[in-house]
Amino acid sequence: MSYLMSNYLPLDVTFIKGNGCYLTDDKGDQYLDALCGVGVTGLGHSHPEITKAIQSQAQQLLHTSNWYHIAHQETLAEVLCKLSNMDNAFFGNSGAEANEAAIKIARLHAQTNNIDSPIILTATQSFHGRTMATLSATGNPKVQAGFSPLLGEFIHVEFNNIKAIQQHKENNNIVAVMLEPIQGESGVIIPNDDYLNQVQEICQKNNWLLILDEVQTGIGRTGKMFAHQYNNITPDILTLAKGLGNGVPISACLAKGKAAKLLTPGTHGSTFGGNPLVCRTALTVLEVIKQDNILDNVNQMSDYISTGFTQALKNVKTVKEIRAKGLMIAIELDQDCSQLLQLALDNKLLINITGQSIRLLPPLILNKDQADTIIKTVCTLIKSL
Ligand SMILES: Cc1ncc(COP(=O)(O)O)c(C=O)c1O
Repeated sequence: MSYLMSNYLPLDVTFIKGNGCYLTDDKGDQYLDALCGVGVTGLGHSHPEITKAIQSQAQQLLHTSNWYHIAHQETLAEVLCKLSNMDNAFFGNSGAEANEAAIKIARLHAQTNNIDSPIILTATQSFHGRTMATLSATGNPKVQAGFSPLLGEFIHVEFNNIKAIQQHKENNNIVAVMLEPIQGESGVIIPNDDYLNQVQEICQKNNWLLILDEVQTGIGRTGKMFAHQYNNITPDILTLAKGLGNGVPISACLAKGKAAKLLTPGTHGSTFGGNPLVCRTALTVLEVIKQDNILDNVNQMSDYISTGFTQALKNVKTVKEIRAKGLMIAIELDQDCSQLLQLALDNKLLINITGQSIRLLPPLILNKDQADTIIKTVCTLIKSL
């Protein structure tokens, strides 16, 4: 009997150790981790420099409170803002918490503009988190089931359909558009190249905030530090989590211009948010990404793995589409393939299945041999269907 609540249904394996792209279970078996704890451990497990930073910070100081200055937090805010062209940062502990901050900023933006019933446009099939506000923002009825009443302020529009946003232009209650640059949880859905540029144009014309949820796409996952940099745009609000801490819980809500000045003393906070331990770790993550040219590796491995899959699967009828941006990869099949999750585990490979798609979020430090193992194992599994 387990004393845990039943909201997860874990596979029957317990990992006790991690090293680079591999995990070891309690029986001593080794697995190739092509999921990274759902896009978190991009730099691999037990990265020596990150481990060293955590150890040294733990010896020095773990936590004070945001009632005092936290030097590493201020440095991290500066580094992230300079990387993203944003002005100010708020730190939380999870992606949902960063998005909550973004939603609260959108409400303050509404207040400043005398809008009493603010509405935020979000996309169908989006995922923004599990708190009540982010759950309401999420465009997936399955995630929302059982949790009514939801917050009424979200209108879900079709992703990658600019007209679906344009048709709300006359609605004076709209204050923001909130989107993932690439939808992750719904299976790596990549919009048209200029979609975000067009969304930004509409936002600017209408005084709507553009909120980009880069919780999954950020921190190098797509081959640029942030996915929206493919579009050469700067959002009003940018949220990050997952890869930022490589496994320690940290998230950030970054904002620019007027949106960056809306939170004032006492309006928002988080006890643990941005404590010395997590900020020092995140700073080390960003240093390693730069110093080891991790983005170059992501782009090389992305081309290698996409080409590998395309060639190996070209005559396989069950494969409908292969989608990849950086190391966010999905192979969509013509049928439900949930049984492949256990079969992959049996073959010592960690993957994710989203409906009819196999989703891979391998480590950003992946090498060719490991990419070959992923391609070979996944293709064998697909052909077994
Ligand atoms: C795009 C996106 N936003 C938000 C979240 C929620 O993050 P967390 O689980 O850290 O609250 C996720 C998690 O998968 C995500 O992919």
